[in-house]
This record gives sequence, C-alpha cells and structure tokens, in this order.
Amino acid sequence: MTQSLTVLGIETSCDETAAAVVRLTDGRAEVLSDIVLGQAAQHAPYQGVVPEIAARAHVEGLDGTIAAAMRDAALGFDDLDGVAATAGPGLIGGVMVGLLAGKAIALAHGKPLIAVNHLEGHALSPRLVGVGPSFPYLLLLVSGGHCQFIGVLDVGVYRRLGSTIDDALGEAFDKLGKLLDLGFPGGPLVEKHAKNGDPTRFALPRPMLGREGCDFSFAGLKTACAREVDRLGSPTDQDKADLCASFQAAVLDVIEDRSRKAMRAFDPIWGAKGRLVAAGGVAANRAIRARLEGLALEQRYEFHAPPMKWCTDNAAMIALAGAERLSRGFSDDLAVPARPRWPLDETSARLRPSHKPGRKGAKA
Ligand code: KG4
Ligand code: ZN
Repeated sequence: MTQSLTVLGIETSCDETAAAVVRLTDGRAEVLSDIVLGQAAQHAPYQGVVPEIAARAHVEGLDGTIAAAMRDAALGFDDLDGVAATAGPGLIGGVMVGLLAGKAIALAHGKPLIAVNHLEGHALSPRLVGVGPSFPYLLLLVSGGHCQFIGVLDVGVYRRLGSTIDDALGEAFDKLGKLLDLGFPGGPLVEKHAKNGDPTRFALPRPMLGREGCDFSFAGLKTACAREVDRLGSPTDQDKADLCASFQAAVLDVIEDRSRKAMRAFDPIWGAKGRLVAAGGVAANRAIRARLEGLALEQRYEFHAPPMKWCTDNAAMIALAGAERLSRGFSDDLAVPARPRWPLDETSARLRPSHKPGRKGAKA
C-alpha cells in the first residue's frame, strides 16, 4: 500500500531561518516548498555568527517564512501529517525559537511533532533528490560546525567513524576568509579566490595526513595561514588568491587521505559495494566534490552529494528527516527539550570524549 506523508520542516539552529514542506511517498521525496531567509548581512559586520542577533532574527523572520512555505506548497496546516523542527545541536536561542514554533503548530492542529537532529537532516539531505543513495552509505559531513565521517545504516542508525579533534572545516574556511578580509561567510569566497591562485606558492601543513584512523584536525592549518598573512603584511589580490589556492590544496589532500581511510573502515562492516556521500555547507565546494568524485571512481564507490542549495542549512532536509522518522512510527512529546549539543551517534561520542566542540558547541 502506498504511504504518503507530508511534513512541514523548520530550521533555525544557526544563521538561516528556514521552512519547507516535503512529501515522502514510498521512500521518494518531493520538495513542495523550500524557503530560506539568510541572515548573512546582519552578521557580516562581525565576520561571524552572533548568537543573540541570530536568535532575534529568527523570532522576527520565522512566522513569515513558515507562511511562505505553506503558501508555496498550496497547503493548510490541517493538510500536514506532521511538523518537524530542528531540536539541536546548534545555537540554543535559535533552536528554541524554531522548536517552540513547531510545537505550537503541532499542538494547535493536533499533528505529531518530530524533533529532528540537525545532523540527521544533513545526513539524509542527498535523499531529497527523488530516492537518492540507498542505505548503507559512508557520509562525510562537513560544515561550519561539524566535520565527521558517519556510517549511515538506516534512518536513525548512525555510526561515527571519525571526526575533527579540534576545528570544523567550515570554521577553517571562514577563518581564512576573515584573515584576508574577503567577507562573510568565508567558504564560498575562499573557493572563488582560489580559482585564480597558485596552489604551490605556500607550503602549508596537511594535518593528520597518513595517520591511522579517519579523524581530522584543522587548527594547525588555520594557524599556519595566520602566520603567512602576518608575514605578508598587506596582501595583494594575487597574494590572497595564492593563499586561498594553497589552503584549498592542503584541504583537498587531507580530505582525500582521510576519506580513503574511512572507506577502509567502512567496507568490512557494510559490504563491498560502497557509497560515498558528502553533505553540509562545505560540500558545496566544487573542488572538494570533484576530488571526492575522483576517489569514489577509483575505489568503485558511487558518489552522491545534494545540490548546492541543500548542502548549506535548509528546512527541506529537516522536513525529510521528520517524514522518514514519522514513516517509521517515531514522533516526540511536546515536552522535548532544545539541545545545544546532540551527537548523532551518542555511544561513540561517549566513548571518545576527546573530540572537542566546533563553532556551535560539541556536535562531534
Ligand atoms: O551546513 P552549514 O550551512 O551550517 C552548519 O551547519 O554549520 O555550513 C556553513 C559552512 C560555513 O562555514 C561556510 O563557509 C561553508 O559552510 N561553505 C563553504 C562553501 N559554501 C559554504 N566552504 C567552502 N566552500 C564553499 N563553496
Ligand atoms: Zn548545518
């Protein structure tokens, strides 16, 4: 029998106020609406996300964003099968705004509430394109707050294989953008400048290259970039392009090496036929996608990455995660709390507490 579930998703964990409606029919996703209200302009003067500004902007923008998502989907709240909201991890003020809105709609219209882990949203985001990759797959989740390899066995069944021991990769991109005064967020701008630069001009470290396991570390690379900027004094446009290109070359080498190790860890557990998936804001980087695609081809893996707009934070991935959970009979009590920290694989997080927080708290 065909099962069709229509879910409103709400995302407010960082600096995007987002709402979307997704319909899941027998495992196939259809995005009926997808609204993202970015706050970059409000945070740009500070060259980073300011939690208090983010929370206030979510309060001001969320009602209109939800109304727009419902209008675009041409649905009323009573047409929904459930309401999904990010309940963490993230900046707690923002998470509370979105979760409370989700609870209010669920209560007022008698719909189930699904409290979604933001990381689960990213993990399932490649499946927003029709059916997407089937389970199990090896996920490289790279964003402003997270950098980890996760074995995605099924909806709700995740094994963390490795993660950053210090900074997230997006943080390193943003830091370089800030050092070079490129603007905010730095990631896309570093990628743009790197295109005109010489990737061999600066000899930057490749942290963790060749090490056992598949953990990452980016603090040393960040510091090395800061040292080069100091040495340059007032960098010219060409200096900036060369440093961006050299930084990105180091990142590519590290990602390829770590992914190779992660594949080795993933293969024996989940069978010969591998699938490599990249998700999260940094997965929007074309050079990173191309390097991973090449590696996948070489290792006879399939490669999947969501379209650019679903790499960065959005509510379609939250609605999909909610619909997937609902289809398996999961929903949450209205008392469910907002969580600043919420590892996707709680067991691994408990066993390896040395993995420190990124920009938005301990998400690893
Ligand atoms: O997933 P996301 O929107 O938010 C978090 O959950 O953190 O990721 C945002 C991060 C930022 O650090 C941003 O600079 C980075 O993703 N990013 C990129 C690119 N586009 C976004 N990094 C490198 N290259 C890009 N093209
Ligand atoms: Zn995110």
